[in-house]
Amino acid sequence: MSLSQTSTSYRETHHKSITEPEAFWLEAAAGLDWDMFPTTAVDDSAAPLYRWFPDGKLNITHNALDRHVAAGHGDRAALIYDSAVTENSRTYTYSELLNEVSAAAGALSELGVKSGDRVLLYMPMIPQAVISMLACARVGAVHSVVFGGFAAREIAARIDDAAPDTVLTATGGVEPSRRIEYLPKVAEAVQRAEHQVRDVIVVHRDGFESSVEEVSQLTAAAWHDWEAVTAQAEPAGPASVDATHPLYVLYTSGTTGKPKGVVRDQGGTAVALNWSMPAIFDVGPGQTLLTASDVGWVVGHSYIVYAPLLAGATSVLYEGKPIGTPDAGAFWRMVQQHRITSLFTAPTALRAIRKADPDAAAVGEYDITSLKYLFSAGERLDPETQRWIGEALNVPVIDNWWQTETGWPIAANPVGIEQLPIKVGSATLPMVGYDISVLDPLGEPLPAGQEGNIAIKLPLPPGTLYTLWGDDARYVDSYLSAFEGYYTTGDSGYVDEDGYIFVMGRTDDVINVSGHRLSTGEIEAAVAEHPAVAECAVIGLADELKGQRPAGFLVLKTGADISEDQLRKELVAHVRSSIGPVADFKEVAVVPALPKTRSGKILRKTMRQIADGKDYIVPSTIEDAGVIDDLLPVLRRNL
Ligand code: COA
Ligand code: AMP
Repeated sequence: MSLSQTSTSYRETHHKSITEPEAFWLEAAAGLDWDMFPTTAVDDSAAPLYRWFPDGKLNITHNALDRHVAAGHGDRAALIYDSAVTENSRTYTYSELLNEVSAAAGALSELGVKSGDRVLLYMPMIPQAVISMLACARVGAVHSVVFGGFAAREIAARIDDAAPDTVLTATGGVEPSRRIEYLPKVAEAVQRAEHQVRDVIVVHRDGFESSVEEVSQLTAAAWHDWEAVTAQAEPAGPASVDATHPLYVLYTSGTTGKPKGVVRDQGGTAVALNWSMPAIFDVGPGQTLLTASDVGWVVGHSYIVYAPLLAGATSVLYEGKPIGTPDAGAFWRMVQQHRITSLFTAPTALRAIRKADPDAAAVGEYDITSLKYLFSAGERLDPETQRWIGEALNVPVIDNWWQTETGWPIAANPVGIEQLPIKVGSATLPMVGYDISVLDPLGEPLPAGQEGNIAIKLPLPPGTLYTLWGDDARYVDSYLSAFEGYYTTGDSGYVDEDGYIFVMGRTDDVINVSGHRLSTGEIEAAVAEHPAVAECAVIGLADELKGQRPAGFLVLKTGADISEDQLRKELVAHVRSSIGPVADFKEVAVVPALPKTRSGKILRKTMRQIADGKDYIVPSTIEDAGVIDDLLPVLRRNL
């Protein structure tokens, strides 16, 4: 949509979205091409489950690609692949990207992929990852991208939940210190999963050792070469699907060990992201966005792939790290080279840059005058980092708060509409369609300044999750049942007298390590598999660089004969091979006992408070208060 629709102020825009949602969202929908324009915005007939644009029909890739080419913008840059780890780069115009996506979509169809089928992607940050996602959406298939830092067991768990017939992968990914062979992991996952995968398509990258010939023997699936299947395929046009048709499933960590399959639809996602790109990030045609995330995370889905393309802008796909590839000037080098106007990253990346280049000397080596804004999300933007990077770049540093479940910012500073005053430590104000309340444990709204559960009044706006894959009951139970009529974010925080939102942390056992969301429950389940471990608690400790880091506190089985050092080595290796390196699990302490309530619940919150040097509360329901006294020295040694 054009920003003329939002030429009114933020407050008027937000007010309209809440008081007249039908009119607001149908107007936003008019910014896209539809095969059938919706007559209704929201369907509330199955509340608390809501569906957006129930009678609309469209295809998100037509809106992201064909529409721009048809409007004469085929020569504009759509995607700039910038690989610092392989020193490669390539620019795809909208016409080129459309051709690649159409060919890949044709190849999928020829291999039997139909509308509604799931396709699992395990891909590094290469153009084929973006092309594959769009190709799935083009034929109405549902992609499920798994981040490259996850191990075979995690891939297998997602195969069993989403039941894809097809897997798309590459020979490997490149980390600064090593090459990651993907094929053995994918073969193991396909073999391990109960659901039978039919086809595996492999993008060949040079420099990897494992071969398809070798690993394909391990599975019953047919293995194909990406180049071969796309070269001979008849290009596929965009399938006309219902707006409510699923676009993707993206798994995220919850409190339990079983990841949650967040599902989003084609229509709501297209409308919401198309609204958000210019309004929140000030990115439109002719502008270039670098979102330094990964296509395996929600930030990558929304702001590397769909939103910039829907907006007709240029998206930079960066294969590299903020530091070390080759240095702390990597982002600033790209700003100069690609004339980037908006840069979006996570605070942990900024802290890593600051650690490597405390005086921001590298900024001075590049011409960064094209840069208008730096956006940050994924974890709380700590005031010190915000101040440091703001001074270094001399552009506004804009925090925005959201989650895998919502797909786009719940709270932000909508600079494309109106730049609101920045309050350090706050993600600013709610975005359109988000009606936020801070509730006490009984569901009563709390006054300004008081911290509680941040909840969003139903319905959530378009582009957010509408269920968990194949499990409405789990969706209702996990998010909609704590407070009737509200979606519970799982975040704790407060709203000040101006309505600014301050997000302070999670209310559950989800932790945030380097901007990656992890479940302590899942790490605990892996640790508990060790034969010497009787029980364990994994908690997130405050970490200057990573925000949080996981640490395991274990009680050994009687008679277990293993040194703490050996146990640590074995557990680190086990968590790495079962969850993946992304879990970043490196700290282990053996303790005589874990503090518990009389009903057997481990007091993780109390442990975390002690370890972080905060005031701690020992609940009156504790089984044995002496256990805490014994634990104090171990927990405090982490300070
Ligand atoms: N494939 C395989 N392994 C991966 C991986 C991937 N895609 N991504 C990370 N890993 C591995 C790393 O190599 C590392 O392994 P190691 O323990 O052998 O060193 C481990 O997982 C932990 O990685 P990470 O947490 O990224 O730490 P790091 O020290 O390698 O890098 C930062 C630190 C801050 C540079 C990095 O975390 C970063 O860029 N963070 C930004 C996060 C982000 O953009 N999040 C998206 C949400 S907005
Ligand atoms: P993910 O689903 O991986 O995007 O993680 C979402 C969680 O990260 C949120 O529920 C918050 O706990 C945290 N988070 C993301 N962005 C912010 C932010 N800007 N401020 C505070 N916390 C954030």
